[in-house]
Amino acid sequence: MQAIDIHNHFFPRSWPDFAQRFGTPNWPWIKHTGAGKADIMVGDRFFRHIYSACWDPEVRLLEMDRDGVDMQVISATPVLFAYERPLEHALESAQLFNDAALELCSHGKGRLKSLCQVPLQDIDAACKELSRCMRAGHLGVQIGNHVAAKNLDDPGIVTFLHHCADEGAAVLVHPWDMMGQQRMPNYMMPWTVGMPAETQLSLVALILSGAFDRLPSTLRICFAHGGGSFSFLLGRLENAWHRHPVARGACQFPPRHYLNRFYVDSVVFDEPTLQFLVCAMSAERVLLGSDYPFPLGEEHVSALIRESHLSGREKAQLLGGNAKQFLSLELGADAGGSNDVSTQEGGLSTGHSEQLSYSSYLEVAELLDLQHPQSSPPHHDELLFIIVHQTYELWFKELLHDLDAVVANLQRASANPESRDEVYEAARLLRRCTEITRVLVEQFTILETMLPTHFLAFRDKLEPASGFQSEQFRELEFLCGLKDAKMLAYHKPTPEAHRRLERRLREPSLHQVFFEALRAMGTLPAPEPGASEEQEFETRSRAILSLYKNEQHYRYWIDVCERLTEFDELVVSWRLRHIQLVERIIGIRMGTGGSAGASYLQHTLDKKFFPELWEARTLLTE
Ligand code: HEM
Repeated sequence: MQAIDIHNHFFPRSWPDFAQRFGTPNWPWIKHTGAGKADIMVGDRFFRHIYSACWDPEVRLLEMDRDGVDMQVISATPVLFAYERPLEHALESAQLFNDAALELCSHGKGRLKSLCQVPLQDIDAACKELSRCMRAGHLGVQIGNHVAAKNLDDPGIVTFLHHCADEGAAVLVHPWDMMGQQRMPNYMMPWTVGMPAETQLSLVALILSGAFDRLPSTLRICFAHGGGSFSFLLGRLENAWHRHPVARGACQFPPRHYLNRFYVDSVVFDEPTLQFLVCAMSAERVLLGSDYPFPLGEEHVSALIRESHLSGREKAQLLGGNAKQFLSLELGADAGGSNDVSTQEGGLSTGHSEQLSYSSYLEVAELLDLQHPQSSPPHHDELLFIIVHQTYELWFKELLHDLDAVVANLQRASANPESRDEVYEAARLLRRCTEITRVLVEQFTILETMLPTHFLAFRDKLEPASGFQSEQFRELEFLCGLKDAKMLAYHKPTPEAHRRLERRLREPSLHQVFFEALRAMGTLPAPEPGASEEQEFETRSRAILSLYKNEQHYRYWIDVCERLTEFDELVVSWRLRHIQLVERIIGIRMGTGGSAGASYLQHTLDKKFFPELWEARTLLTE
């Protein structure tokens, strides 16, 4: 299981004397006290003992190996925020610590990533610094949970969060500058009592103000220390919302509705509390965090999750699966971009030294723990229903993987129209796609061994889940060129899926890059200004025709055309077999996604990814 710790801290080994530079007192500074030891001071006041893991990547990596942590996403410490200082001072110090974080990560063998900090007292400057940092390689930002009297629902801060969503930046909210300190002079109570309350306050402010209704669902935001006291007091908040109009605030829905809009980390130090958190928030919303390497952090990072009684699947989600979503990491896939750790030295696979076996490599235990029938007692055929769908989704994943590679090859072919290697490679991968799709067409027969009566015995448990919500199927359509923004509506409940589909809408499709490659080769003329879509369609079809008419010269391209045609044909066969299955199992009844069922699906039979390839055939016989 991969482990990604999203909440831990660093300090650089040294930094300039800000008090002297800016002429203002009480800046944090580092006092080295002995080998590998230092104290953080704030002016003349002692703040915290730290040790070399804060600044030394070697020490961090060794301790990560010891604890089985594959990746850390480091952030500075709230004492460095400087939100109360003049903008120029706060910005300069933020830039310094942000660049220092990247410098530390550059020695992390691909296993250290970072969140930046911003001068949140000035929203324009904060947005600008965030954008700079994202371009430089940070994965997101750590912010304090308030700026003086402004909570997270402050319009300026909401604008900043909006900007984070636009930039694709993950946001970690860390409590700081704790309330009521005059009543908590002893026993570290600002940390043990004040911090959890601060976090709860910021979450309640975001929810009740209706900020989540206005913020895009693509915002990825996580609250430190298990979200503080929020989840334990959620029932109280919910009760007040329903029973006291004055406690309602401006949000459209009861507080519980917004639980899928944010994450919390696992820094709670106690198994019953962790179990409670997973129960309250769901296993999809809790991420491994540690507060490493501070004295109040988890001593052996990830031990709480690993040694808990959570299921194998839940552990995998908490340890790393959810963090990949939160950080938008596409580990293992060649996703490109500065945040793609899979292409960097070390990457995640060099993590701790468990011996690889068939089961650990394929994560068989986790895989076999992923089937959870809803019927009770479980109906015998529901397992088949789940496994068949999961198998489809796995193959959809492989198809996306291969089709993305086809797109990349065709883009390279555009850049170098003389070369044939990329065209050959595109055709080779497309053949794999057609073979996979052939299997997908055949696979429906297995589900047809289920009697309609058996399906009806558990069908009511499935509502409102529907094939409409297969994000990967829709991704495949968008990637191939059938882009329909209306279909995004079905993915609103899952912000990650929504975000990925929006990205697919923006990215060039296979259809587009294929014709761009023909244009680069000179086979397809540039679009005529003012030409109608029908005229453009005919020009594209005639470009295909010219390939077929000059077979000797364009063998490789004809191979690509044939594979694309076959793929198109097989996807239509898939649609047809799916309709036959639907009719066989539920007749002409409505679907759980609210469509008219089989009669709706009939309309999808007209969909083609590459209609020009078909049109060229008609033109050939002219
Ligand atoms: C008992 C078996 C099945 C039944 C009764 C069924 C029924 C339906 C219905 C009625 C729809 C239309 C949307 C709605 O109103 O929900 C639909 C859509 C869909 N189903 Fe199925 N389905 C079954 C099996 C499968 C399987 C095995 C897959 C494999 C992934 C699948 C994938 C899809 C997809 C991707 C859509 C969206 C199609 C589109 O929008 O073009 N279905 N299904």
